[in-house]
Amino acid sequence: MNADTLPISIYDVSTPNFLIDLDILNENAKKMLATAKELGVELRPHVKTHKCCEIGTISTGGSKSKISVSTIKEALFFSDGGFTDILYAVPITDHKIKRCQDIIKEVPSLKLMFDSMYGLKCMINNPRNDGQPWAAILDIDCGYGRTGLEWNGEKVLSVAMEANESKNVNFLGLYTHCGNSYDAKNVKEIHKVVDETCDRIVYVAKRLEEHGIKCETVGSGSTPSCNQPTQKMANLTEIHPGGYIFNDYGHTLNGACTIGDIAVKVAARVISHKRSKNHLLIDCGFLALSFNGFEEVGNYGDLCAFQDHPDLRLKGLTQELGKVSVKDGDLDFDKYPIGTMLFIYPFHCCNTGTNFHHYYVHSGDKIVDVWTPVRGW
Ligand SMILES: Cc1ncc(COP(=O)(O)O)c(C=O)c1O
Repeated sequence: MNADTLPISIYDVSTPNFLIDLDILNENAKKMLATAKELGVELRPHVKTHKCCEIGTISTGGSKSKISVSTIKEALFFSDGGFTDILYAVPITDHKIKRCQDIIKEVPSLKLMFDSMYGLKCMINNPRNDGQPWAAILDIDCGYGRTGLEWNGEKVLSVAMEANESKNVNFLGLYTHCGNSYDAKNVKEIHKVVDETCDRIVYVAKRLEEHGIKCETVGSGSTPSCNQPTQKMANLTEIHPGGYIFNDYGHTLNGACTIGDIAVKVAARVISHKRSKNHLLIDCGFLALSFNGFEEVGNYGDLCAFQDHPDLRLKGLTQELGKVSVKDGDLDFDKYPIGTMLFIYPFHCCNTGTNFHHYYVHSGDKIVDVWTPVRGW
């Protein structure tokens, strides 16, 4: 798509579609760069949120250096787009290390993450084919409970020692993702997770250093924690949030951001009125909006918010349709004639964004660009 074929305004786009408010996105990028600077740490934005070089450039302040990726396709795409210092922030396995060997020529700055002796052996037994050691970071579980060696477990020391001694590995340090910050109900609870995570990862780094293992990188981060940082984050060397660049409705529920900080929305149109059921239908179902968040909130109403219509409430989603009603009383159908455009703040920006092959970028109502993310694995 080129500039000549761009819709003129956000009211001209086909629906459903994904819109990015460039002014809010720039502001979110600026704020996080400032947070990192104030804390005296480096920012390594996670690009899984958008998978898009234009946004990676903005979020790195134009440096195109230091990003985390979640797929090998992203690593290749961003390297091709001129990015360097790319951390593949998923525990390495035997199958993936072979793909990393294949792409190392194209992504020479690739860093790997490992979370076990198994992962370490994958790197030791499958060296880079250019004679260089794998730059590698150990994934630590500081309470989230997804991946990583337990911060206070016995294995951390033995795995790090072996990594440090291997000639095929350049051991760089530690990474933790505090995904448990998503369970926090308010900012106070976010701060508790942030402080606990920082204390734990710094404890691991100190323990390794006492055994002669240097950790030049000690990183943590998620959108709730980095949008609501505490001073303990100054004890890290880097932070790696991703979703903050968009923000979303889910993040407003515990105070990690406000509605005004959300840079993305799904554009949808009213396509039918169902007066007997007190709801209207929009052309945005779960394939566009996604069900992500339903497990946590357990109702459709908290899966999204409607821009400028706080009284509207999502009642249900099927594949291509959404049922919309009001929080209380009777829906005023005359206010929403067929064709009316509604803009929806999604629960989880990463998940909703990845449903779209292009992002329409706007400033005010004017469409100013269209960006194309990478897809696939
Ligand atoms: C390993 C890892 N690091 C960093 C992030 C970024 O976290 P957030 O999306 O909360 O900003 C994620 C997100 O899921 C992740 O999986």
